[in-house]
Amino acid sequence: MSQYSTISGTDIATAKLLLESGQVVAIPTETVYGLAANAFDSDAVYKIFQAKSRPASNPLIVHVGSVDQLQGIVSHVPDAAIRLFGFFAPGPLTLLLPKKDRVPDIVTAGLPRVAVRIPAHPLTLSLLQSLDFPLAAPSANPSGYISPTSAQHVMQMLGGKIPYILDGGECKTGIESTIVGFENEQPVIYRQGTITKDDIEKCLGSTSLYHGVTPVAPGSHTSHYSPHTPLYLTHDIEAVLNHNGDKNVGLLTYNEYSDLLPESQQIVLYTSDNLTQGAANLYAALHDMDSRQYAYIIAKKLPDHGIGAAINDRLWRASIK
Ligand code: TXA
Ligand code: MG
Repeated sequence: MSQYSTISGTDIATAKLLLESGQVVAIPTETVYGLAANAFDSDAVYKIFQAKSRPASNPLIVHVGSVDQLQGIVSHVPDAAIRLFGFFAPGPLTLLLPKKDRVPDIVTAGLPRVAVRIPAHPLTLSLLQSLDFPLAAPSANPSGYISPTSAQHVMQMLGGKIPYILDGGECKTGIESTIVGFENEQPVIYRQGTITKDDIEKCLGSTSLYHGVTPVAPGSHTSHYSPHTPLYLTHDIEAVLNHNGDKNVGLLTYNEYSDLLPESQQIVLYTSDNLTQGAANLYAALHDMDSRQYAYIIAKKLPDHGIGAAINDRLWRASIK
């Protein structure tokens, strides 16, 4: 049932007023659109969980406008965190740091660390710098579905459920931030993104990829980012076509069209091995494919390193296992 007639616009003042009165607002970031509320106001944050049907066990990232604003939410900022933010902020990097009591448990799902990031989008940075509280914001999609990279995606998925979408155009990075925490002072990557393991290593030295089950991690539910249409992730397109039938099928591929299906049924995610372009196009391509009433979608597995690995991770979580 619709509660709101959702408005989409570019007015920071409207977004600010709504956030100050405890409402949720969709905001643009360089990665994906977020669904934001005052991180210090548990009732406002609760509305995010309701609008997304998000399980209470899945914590939220807190967005701030500058490294200085971290002081309000984090009890200790290790040197490595200062180095990383010095290199990559504002940008698609989230750090897990020990939280101050002031950050309500609903934000961190009761965990002792809070995820923090400084997004690199001019509208949202101005908004954050004009507010006297930080913004808790997960991606602005119904829980488990494809993330939004445009105001239109948010309107399609959450129209009627939120009062306002701050329209900042298409997200340039296109996949969610890299999430890094520290265990015994060692940096650990919990979610891969366009800032890769190599990038983190260049900045800090050694890094390890996280392989455990706790904490509740980082878009790490095995089923996530999923279209309603079944999706197969594979190296062998022909085998999937032979097994499942080859008529009403969409193919997400890269560099060039496949000759196994008509070009009208394909989306080429990127050309000339430009994985940055692939990340930027991924979710729009998935939204588009999911709207075409195919029996199923095939995604060709990307080269599994760097940004390719981050995109494969999203496609794997979106796929039939
Ligand atoms: O790029 C992004 O990070 C986007 C934009 C909007 O900033 N946000 C985003 O939020 O991807 P979300 O909620 O879709 O994914 C955040 C992930 C979740 O999977 C959550 O489990 C993890 O971060 N996370 C948040 N707080 C955490 C914490 N305290 N400890 C461990 N994981 C945490
Ligand atoms: Mg998400």
